[in-house]
This record gives sequence, structure tokens and C-alpha cells, in this order.
Amino acid sequence: MGVDLGVELAGLNLRTPLILASGILGLSGRLLVEISRIEDVGAVTTKSIGLKPRDGYPNPTIAVLPYGFINSMGLPNPGVDFFLKELDEAGSFGSPLIASFYGYSIEEIAETARIIASHPSVSALELNVSCPHVSGISEIGVKPELVAEAVSKVKKEVGKPLFVKLSPNTHLIVDVARAAAEAGADGLTAVNTVKAIAIDAELCKPILSGVYGGLSGPALKPIALRCVYEIYEEVEIPIIGCGGVSSYLDVVEFILAGASAVALGSVIALKGIMVFRELARGLSEYLERKGVRSVEEIVGLSHR
Ligand SMILES: Cc1cc2nc3c(=O)[nH]c(=O)nc-3n(C[C@H](O)[C@H](O)[C@H](O)COP(=O)(O)O)c2cc1C
Repeated sequence: MGVDLGVELAGLNLRTPLILASGILGLSGRLLVEISRIEDVGAVTTKSIGLKPRDGYPNPTIAVLPYGFINSMGLPNPGVDFFLKELDEAGSFGSPLIASFYGYSIEEIAETARIIASHPSVSALELNVSCPHVSGISEIGVKPELVAEAVSKVKKEVGKPLFVKLSPNTHLIVDVARAAAEAGADGLTAVNTVKAIAIDAELCKPILSGVYGGLSGPALKPIALRCVYEIYEEVEIPIIGCGGVSSYLDVVEFILAGASAVALGSVIALKGIMVFRELARGLSEYLERKGVRSVEEIVGLSHR
């Protein structure tokens, strides 16, 4: 029969705790709608959107490693105006749409948030202050006081739930998380990619045109898990765990560490979109085997 996987996350009702992570399947409204209607998808997150269009970096932008990817896309996106038109034509979402966005200053962050949140299809926002390969973004995300300022400004202007996507590239992650929570953030996404580099031994130079990139996939998982665990100890708002999930046991581990939901990124490139079904089934069987009736019962259980 299976267990009901539904979770409540910062006021959003998710059919399952499994969320499409930002940047993985882009910004096409129709594609996001289609994914949001898949039974096992709890919510979908857009590629990060800025106030103005951004080209991103020339190829190569992805290095494939045996244990994950290093990407240096450079946040290519068509900007907020295009995105809102895209949503106008997309149809209705089957699960909540979380719009990821960024800005190079507090004012730009607030303005972008206000514009995006005005669209009725957007259920929540995710502030990306953690992209490790575009300058001006993660510099904000490693400073607790700037994150607090950005969050309180956005919260003054926007009535929808706000998540802050945290960077693992700082020993201050818990301080940033606490600052975001105290400033009024409704949830945290932990984490974005780890700053990394790939070098071509034959060409004797970095592989990616942007030189530095962000490490995702299985190599990131223990780091992301540690971040979720540490944040859960200190901060009370809900956490979306993200980083290297590739099996249902990874999902379980993130929930036990303190995540209320779990975002999937790189695994989709490897296994396809139906990985949502595989992980939802595995999670449901696990809960049934443990005699647990809901996901919420095991959130943070490893801290006992
Ligand atoms: C190609 C690619 C593009 C990404 N673009 C974004 C983005 O636009 N905004 C964002 O917040 N995270 C972005 N991410 C980070 C993912 O959302 C996620 O945090 C990270 O990949 C770790 O999860 P994973 O190991 O499951 O992939 C991107 C990741 C990849 C691989």
C-alpha cells in the first residue's frame, strides 16, 4: 500500500519530499509544468533568474568526473521579463513552483524577487547567494549580515515563502543560516555546489572556460549531509537537503540529518526524470519497513 509521502514545507504542500533542484532542467515553463505533474515530484525549482538576461560562459562548461560533475555554466538565463512571459504560456503547475533568483546587490535582489513573486504560478522563491563561479553572488552568501539584509528586504516586499540557498564554500554556513532565519527566511536549501577545478593534463590548462566550477553529484553528498546536520542543530526553519543524492538511502540520510525535503540535481542527468519514481518508492518502502507513518516523523532523527 505504501506510506503517504506528503510533507508540509514552509506552508507549501508537497506530495513527496522530492524536489527538482535549480539549474538542472532550465527555465522552460512548459517543461517545468510537465515535470511538476509527475506523481512523485514534490516541487520544481527553476534555473536561477536575474533581473537582466545573462549569457553565461562559452563551452566547455561541464567536466564529467567518475564521482560527479564540475559545472561552470555562469548562470545563463533570459532574465525576469522573459521568464514571466514563459510562465504566462506554461499552463498550470501540478506541484509548487519554486523560482530561484539572484542579484548583485541587495536592491537588485529585492527588485528581482518582487517581480518574480508577482506571478500567480510562483509558489515560493529561492534566493541563490551561493553560485561559486559567478563573481558578485557568493560574495554575498558568505557574509551573514548581507544575507540578513537581503532576506529582510525581500520579506518586506514579498508575501510568498522565501528559501535561501546556502554555500558550502565557507566555514560560516551555520552563521549564514542563522542570520537568514532571524531575518525572516522561511527555509534554507543546503547546499549549492563546492568550488572546484578540473585540469586537462595533456593541454596543461583548466578544462572549463570559466576556470573554476561547482562540484555536484556523489562526491558532494557527505559534505552536504554534514551541512544539513550542522544547520539542523542550530536553526529551526525547515531545510531542503541538496547535494549528491542518487539513491533512496541518500534521501533517507538527508531526512535523518534534518532535511524536511530533498532536492535532486545531477542524478537526473544520469538516470533521467523517472528517478523521482524510483526514489519515492524506495523511501515509501523504507518508512513502511520501519513502521513509520510519515516522513515528518523521521526528520532529524539522527540527532537523538
Ligand atoms: C549544470 C548545473 C547547473 C546548476 N545551476 C544552478 C542554478 O542556476 N542555481 C542554483 O541555485 N543552483 C544551480 N545548480 C546547483 C544545483 O541546484 C545543486 O545545488 C547541486 O548540483 C548539488 O546537487 P546535486 O549533487 O544533486 O546535483 C546547478 C547544478 C548543475 C549541475
